[in-house]
Amino acid sequence: MARVIYVDGVYHPYHTAGVHPEDRGYQFGDAVYEVCEVKSGAIVDQGRHIARLQRSLDELKITMPMTVAALQTVIRETVRRNRVHDGTVYLQVSRGTNKRDFLFPPAGTRPTLVCLARPADPVRAKIAAENGITVISEPDPRWSRCDIKTVMLLPASLAKERARDTGSSEVWFTDRDGFVTEGGSSNAWIVTRDRELITTPVSNAILRGVTRTTLIDLINREGYRLVERQFTIAEAKQAQEAFITSASNVVMPVTEIDGAPVGNRHPGGLTLALRESFHEVAEIST
Ligand code: PDD
Repeated sequence: MARVIYVDGVYHPYHTAGVHPEDRGYQFGDAVYEVCEVKSGAIVDQGRHIARLQRSLDELKITMPMTVAALQTVIRETVRRNRVHDGTVYLQVSRGTNKRDFLFPPAGTRPTLVCLARPADPVRAKIAAENGITVISEPDPRWSRCDIKTVMLLPASLAKERARDTGSSEVWFTDRDGFVTEGGSSNAWIVTRDRELITTPVSNAILRGVTRTTLIDLINREGYRLVERQFTIAEAKQAQEAFITSASNVVMPVTEIDGAPVGNRHPGGLTLALRESFHEVAEIST
């Protein structure tokens, strides 16, 4: 479990850590976040995660609370103090604390930075990848700036809860034309019968996943064919393979969509090969 949480310059014991009730993140969802994979004590793709954090902050006009070097130290120290070998590290930056007002707080209000790290069981992840996961689909209920990684996660939380109620672990959202945007907390991929990798092109409708970007590096290195284009649930059900990508799942096979099998209902070979090689191309920061 997490033992220590960093909040604004101090490492607090887990159970006594807190932010102010008038924190903008708490009252307005006025905060952005990142989740990085921790593998063998090292941070995976830290550079890309911090770059995306900077972009999310810029889009919302929140100032980065510290230098990148200082942020890297906080991340490393939080992972170390929590003795996380394999797991995730979570960063959240809100616009800070002020009396409740829709308008932004006065210039100079200090953003709130929280960092926590928690272990994950690599054996469990391996078993999940061997079996694959199932997904359901739903119309995308979210706002029009899903490219910004904000903490406004209630639509995704509700949808993932509905997925769990039906025995699935992820939801694939569809836009009003029936095309898959992304998962509730992941990017969506299919592999066609002629081994073409398909994923939704980046736009304001999806988060540009760091895992997605690094996987594209791997796909290019291996010389596989990649097409960034839209696809429907009907096409996904006909695909040879399907999978999701995210920092916490890396590359995770999808074996069923809305109860229909994908391929032979087993994790796809190309999917598993990509999962196996992913960390060869990812940036590993110790
Ligand atoms: N989720 N799309 C959405 C909506 C996400 O929430 C995530 C990540 C991704 C994949 O991004 P990345 O590859 O950078 O993790 C795509 C994180 C893991 C989470 O909320 O826990």
